[in-house]
Parts: sequence; structure tokens; C-alpha cells
Amino acid sequence: MKLPFFKKKQVKIEESQFDNIPNHVAIIMDGNGRWAKKRGLPRIAGHKEGMDVVKEIVVAASTLGIKILTLYAFSTENWKRPKSEVDFLMKLPKEFLHIYLPEMIENNVRIETIGEFNALPTHTKEAINYAKEKTKNNNGLLLNFALNYGSRFEIVRAIKHIMSDINTSDITAETLDEETVSRYLYTDGLTDPDLLIRTSGEQRLSNFLLWQLAYSEFWFTEVLWPDFNKEIFEKALHDYQQRKRRYGGI
Ligand code: IPE
Ligand code: IPE
Ligand code: MG
Repeated sequence: MKLPFFKKKQVKIEESQFDNIPNHVAIIMDGNGRWAKKRGLPRIAGHKEGMDVVKEIVVAASTLGIKILTLYAFSTENWKRPKSEVDFLMKLPKEFLHIYLPEMIENNVRIETIGEFNALPTHTKEAINYAKEKTKNNNGLLLNFALNYGSRFEIVRAIKHIMSDINTSDITAETLDEETVSRYLYTDGLTDPDLLIRTSGEQRLSNFLLWQLAYSEFWFTEVLWPDFNKEIFEKALHDYQQRKRRYGGI
């Protein structure tokens, strides 16, 4: 699909790359607190503003034909924040879905999560389960929220499950391979992200998808998440299209 960005900025791009849209994009949506601070607002104002950006990017991704969009919404480390902020963040999924679920459905989006879902507050789980149920038969973009997600926890959890399955499955120390380990991660069945975007100028993974990002392209921007938009997203995709992925080959 032709990105409108190419036309506007008159970027020359080879014909063959028009179709080179990443299958799976993962985003670390960072900088909400700093966005609010710059405006003399409470941090939660940044989270609220960021919610509308999520909608804009989901619609853009869906329109461009991206298959999977994984958004880091709450990490296992984010519980360290003040209770008032955590409480607000736990109410955001319900608010987001209350406003935008109809538009998600219109766009044929399927909603899923990765992370320790059961440890979330009941009201958060209920809102998300409702959305999962309502969208389960949609076959457009998979919108995958990483909620209470931590990659090291995910890997330890996988090892524990593998160990407890060892007697009842055909897994042995000799046969255990990368594919089997992948099946024990939250992302079972999903292709690895092709592109990782992080906003707010930080250049770290903060415990996000350590296994799955082994060969992903990374793209960083100073822009704070509430200021992120479709045009910047398209710039990231355009830059991705210029990358040469070699996977260790030549
Ligand atoms: C990202 O923005 C949202 C979450 C981590 C939930 P932050 O809240 O981390 O914003 P900064 O990094 O403090 O600016
Ligand atoms: C990563 O951002 C988590 C999410 C975006 C949900 P953080 O703001 O928590 O990361 P650090 O603490 O700066 O590494
Ligand atoms: Mg942050």
C-alpha cells in the first residue's frame, strides 16, 4: 500500500517497497508524564491525552494493513508508581473502550492482551474481557495491549510451565528448541515484531518483549507519546522500509 507520506514529502522509494509494510509493530508509548509536566498539569492528564493517540494509531495501522499492533500500556514495574496514578491507569482501558470500542469494531479490530491479566483489578478485567468477547471474530488488525507485562517474568513463567509439562508432554532437554519456548510465551502464535517504536527519547526496552525483539528494527523519537500522531507513525514506517534486514546473513 502506498503511504501518503511518500507523496507529501516526495520521498523517492522503489516500487518494490510500497508493499513492505511491517506485519507486526510494537510500541513503547512513553512520555505521558513529561508531556503533562511541561504544561503544568498532573501526570494523569498526559495519560488521558495519550489515550486519544492510541485510537489514532490503531486506525492508521489498521488502514495501512498492519496485522498486529502491540502496545506497551502497563509494565510489571509500573506498580511502583503512586497508588493514585496506578488506579488511574487501571481505569483507562475501560474509558478507552467506552469511547472507542464501536470504532474498533467498525475497523474490524480484534482486541487481545499479553501479561499477567488475572492480577489486574476486577473492573479492568471486566472491561477488557467485554471488548475481547465483542471483537473475537474480527479478522482485521490484532490490537494487543501489553498490560501488567514484564518480559523477564514472561520468560520465567515459560520455564516453569515447561518444567511442569515435562512429564506429560514429549519435551525433553534434548528436544527443547526455540519454537517450543516461543509457544510458552504470552505471544504464542504471533509473529515477532518487525518494528519497535519508542517515544520520549528514552532508548531502552524497559523489560518489553526481550525474546521477541531479537531481530526487530528499532526506531526512536524524542516526541512524547501524547504528541505522537499518524504522520510521525508513517515516518517510522517509511524509515523501516529503508532498512536492510539481514538476520545474520549477508
Ligand atoms: C508512559 O508514560 C505511560 C506508562 C508508563 C503507563 P510515562 O508515565 O512513563 O511518562 P514519563 O516517562 O514519566 O514522561
Ligand atoms: C515503559 O515505560 C512502560 C510503558 C510504556 C508502559 P516506563 O516509563 O515505565 O519505563 P522506564 O521506567 O522509563 O524505563
Ligand atoms: Mg516513562
